[in-house]
Amino acid sequence: MSSDSESSDVLSWRRYLHQNPELSFKEIETSRFIESTLQGFGVRTWRLAPTGVIAEIGTGGPIIALRADIDALPVDEATGTPYASANFGVMHACGHDAHAAMLLAAAKSLSVRPPATGRVRLVFQAAEELPPGGAQQLVEAGLLEDVSMVFGIHVQSGLPVGMAAVGPGPVTANSDRFEILLHGSAGHAALPHQARDAIVMAGHLILALQTIVSRSVDPMSPAAVSIGQVEAGRAPNIIADRARLAGTVRSLQAPTQAIVEQRIRDLAQTTATAFGGSAEVRYMRGYPGVENALLPSGLFAQAARDVLGEDSVQGALTQLAGEDFGHYTRRVPGAFLYLGSGSEGRDFPHHHPRFDLDERALDYGVQVWLRLVDLALDRLAAPGPT
Ligand code: NI
Repeated sequence: MSSDSESSDVLSWRRYLHQNPELSFKEIETSRFIESTLQGFGVRTWRLAPTGVIAEIGTGGPIIALRADIDALPVDEATGTPYASANFGVMHACGHDAHAAMLLAAAKSLSVRPPATGRVRLVFQAAEELPPGGAQQLVEAGLLEDVSMVFGIHVQSGLPVGMAAVGPGPVTANSDRFEILLHGSAGHAALPHQARDAIVMAGHLILALQTIVSRSVDPMSPAAVSIGQVEAGRAPNIIADRARLAGTVRSLQAPTQAIVEQRIRDLAQTTATAFGGSAEVRYMRGYPGVENALLPSGLFAQAARDVLGEDSVQGALTQLAGEDFGHYTRRVPGAFLYLGSGSEGRDFPHHHPRFDLDERALDYGVQVWLRLVDLALDRLAAPGPT
């Protein structure tokens, strides 16, 4: 397993980052810290997007990419730990501090024992938490053009420490947003026949939208349509001429995503028309779902079994959460692994003010990274289909 210095490095880096969280696209000190730490052990680094740090170890090809996200959330930390956020109102409440620390520790090890063949590209990615996210910029800048496989680890408080989950197929959802503006015409509340009530349109439309998942989507294909905001009206005695609905759509499969978008558009138009009004629909596709490919997820599962034990690795943990790692798996074969970080008192949900992790997960994560690098570069160097 790991040496003592590796363990103390990853722990102190994680706590340093935890205490100094920065919001998405504003990871100024975080990226400086990552850069100078990497340079401290002789690793070459460069910037892609202002706060993304890329590093590379090894020579020639093939190349695999390992990704850690580095941003924090607008959450008021309530853990009471000695390493709690010193930047009140901002918190590493999703474990991205752990991701960055684990990848730094893996980089330190690899800098001493670089891979015999091929290269490891380390991706410290900004802004996973805030759409449009940092991944898309990196992909557009050509980050993956010469990369054969891409991998990501996310700690998971709902999974006990010492466990991991990875397998082929969907891991997270396509996560989209929509906004509907309903237009009617205003009037006196006592003279409804002279107006076109946008609130009544909204009421019917809210119920109609509930039928998309239950009546239009294949029950074997998961999806969620949720309206999170409704705004209309200015006074009890005025009929509203305008209503605004905004919501979120999650889906795992592209055909389902397309059906949901089309049904939202159709229902908004026809409902508004039925009540004498009109609708404007804005549908914004967000992070694509993370889709684990067969070979990379097999290699990741093997690495996790080698480190954690045969019975400690379960299949894919699919959630309708959003994760911009989907931009990577859409481009090259890849896999995303959930690393258990939960234990009693350390199992608050991600994004909760008391979220924390069982820090034993840190060492496991570093070891899984190192084992994966060996397995993946060996496999890519071997003849035969990939
Ligand atoms: Ni996260």
